[in-house]
Amino acid sequence: MSSTVHRPRPRRSCLAVPGSNPRFLEKAQTLAADQVFLDLEDACAPAVKEKARHLIVDALNTGDWTGKTRVLRVNDWTTHWTYRDVVTVVEGAGQHLDCVMLPKVRDAAQIKALDMLLTQIERTMGFEAGRIGIEAQIESAEGLVAVEDIAAASQRLETLIFGPADFMASIGMKSLVVGEQPPGYPADAYHHILMRILMAARSHGLQAIDGPYLQIRDPAGFAEVAGRSAALGFDGKWVLHPDQIAAANEIFSPSQEDYDHAEMILDAYAWYTSQAGGFKGSAMLGDEMIDEASRKMALVVVGQGRAAGLRRTTVFTPPTA
Ligand code: GLV
Ligand code: MG
Repeated sequence: MSSTVHRPRPRRSCLAVPGSNPRFLEKAQTLAADQVFLDLEDACAPAVKEKARHLIVDALNTGDWTGKTRVLRVNDWTTHWTYRDVVTVVEGAGQHLDCVMLPKVRDAAQIKALDMLLTQIERTMGFEAGRIGIEAQIESAEGLVAVEDIAAASQRLETLIFGPADFMASIGMKSLVVGEQPPGYPADAYHHILMRILMAARSHGLQAIDGPYLQIRDPAGFAEVAGRSAALGFDGKWVLHPDQIAAANEIFSPSQEDYDHAEMILDAYAWYTSQAGGFKGSAMLGDEMIDEASRKMALVVVGQGRAAGLRRTTVFTPPTA
């Protein structure tokens, strides 16, 4: 399997939009989130799920989602809703949909089942085969234990998503504030979970996304929790309120300083490894020794910075003597 992200769509901020609420479906189109996911699961009451499917079809077909990754979150396979969620929305609006998000994934078979259903719908409808991706939510102990198999289950997979609320309930973590550290534990209670998801994602070329922070009136709390997964290498985080969008976009983009530095490393390394630079394998950039591994690290940051629309503010000048 490749170790690079093969279909990277921007996902720094992934906005949850209840599928049953036409006002939110309208408003979401105007917000600066990289991704929107139109929700048929937990943000949608059982009595209105049927109606919400049709509202989502309409919003996808007639709305202006330019520049956004468009995702449908269906109900999980233990309910009786999943197949109709997929069939109604993908048949009705599949050409305007980028991914289907599957919640509470427990094993690889659940991903394969969704993959097969999507394939049948694509064939029936004459849609491009395999274009619609899958996002898998890891939000139980079972899901985490099977995360490597899940990550390998389908070519359609694009992301693994940590679902902290359901996860905390699944393991009995003693905190009711989603994403916050449980009182009484002296270290980071999420480190193992986040790293395990990140490793499974990266070893299969997938993005890793952090789930929601429910204290929507606490920007400092959001920044702290988002900063934790961003620091590890996660690609983005869910946002539940318009106020969290700008923060997520910033936290999951490199700083201007890091971006400039990464561009300098690429230029310097290219020059030193060329004839003009004497075909050197490693060289000094200021006080820093750079080599092929530095180039790989810089490439990641440069890719993120360019995707975020940053412009470099420094120029590499080769040494004269
Ligand atoms: C998201 O679905 C969560 O359970 O945190
Ligand atoms: Mg959940």
